[in-house]
Amino acid sequence: MLEVIEQLDHDAHAELDAVSSEDELEAFRIKFLGSKGAVKKLMGMLKDVPKEQKPAFGKNANILRQKVEQAFESKKGSLGGSATASKKSGPMIDVTEPGSPPRLGREHIITQTINEIADVFGRMGFEVATGPEIEDEHHNFIALNIPASHPARDPVDNFFVSDDELLRSQTSTIQIRVMENREPPIRVIATGRVYRPDEIDATHHQMFHQVEGLYVDKNVSMVDLKSTLIQFAHAMFGPDADVMLVPSYFPFTEPSAELYVKMDLGKGLEWMEVGGCGMVDPNVFKAVGYDPEEWTGFAFGLGIERLAMRKYQIPDIRWLFENDVRFLRQF
Ligand code: DAH
Repeated sequence: MLEVIEQLDHDAHAELDAVSSEDELEAFRIKFLGSKGAVKKLMGMLKDVPKEQKPAFGKNANILRQKVEQAFESKKGSLGGSATASKKSGPMIDVTEPGSPPRLGREHIITQTINEIADVFGRMGFEVATGPEIEDEHHNFIALNIPASHPARDPVDNFFVSDDELLRSQTSTIQIRVMENREPPIRVIATGRVYRPDEIDATHHQMFHQVEGLYVDKNVSMVDLKSTLIQFAHAMFGPDADVMLVPSYFPFTEPSAELYVKMDLGKGLEWMEVGGCGMVDPNVFKAVGYDPEEWTGFAFGLGIERLAMRKYQIPDIRWLFENDVRFLRQF
């Protein structure tokens, strides 16, 4: 029985030696190694082999199969090599195919929102001002008409870095810096980080961003304030956005109000406070050397995270600072 194997060994190698093209090689594969090929048939003969010869036959048949497979593979390699160099190893590369685009970075959603805010107010004639994040008590409190006894000045409610300096708790500081350095009329916004040791939850963080607005001119009224904020909200969120002003109190404005925007953060539509506003208090004008009899103005300070949450339906402020790219890539 073993002669059958030897014969097949001989035939296979002889035929493989004669193969000179890929088509011939494929024909060889079918004839010898295919599912109905000679090697398969040989394996099938095992059951008819006398019992005592079975082990030797099985072993030799297996060796033959491996030899033919190896010879086939090396022939395939050498054929490929002589036909085209690129087939020698690895996958073929089509250099004319368009490449896969590299994944680009993008601006953080807060940066995008800040840019959009500046754009909207820019169209209304507001320019952008900046101020330092480490502030003195004068700019953070005193000039803003916040007396020493006011709870907002409590050291436990602020991040003081020295006796007189703190991480600013509001961008209203920039109102003072702008007015100290310029004469009216003034129309500015200022965006930046503010810091408060608040308890962190879905709508509060210890560092967040505000956009401050200040408009000083003759005969500025509450109507100007209201229409400016409504126009802003509609430009940001679309003309159907629901907004309202609710009377409130701030030391640096009189009268004062809070701006509420209706938003759905997963629990149905709810009113959310997005910031404060009002008519600049005469004491603030006095602190910067403006005559409150001559000048009038409005101011506002809005939380940028909350505006972004409304715009992009983000239910949790913490997601904005976790830097999870799966979240950030969506914007
Ligand atoms: N600074 C206030 C805050 O952080 C917000 C604010 C209220 C700003 C009224 C203003 C304003 O400019 O006029 O809560």
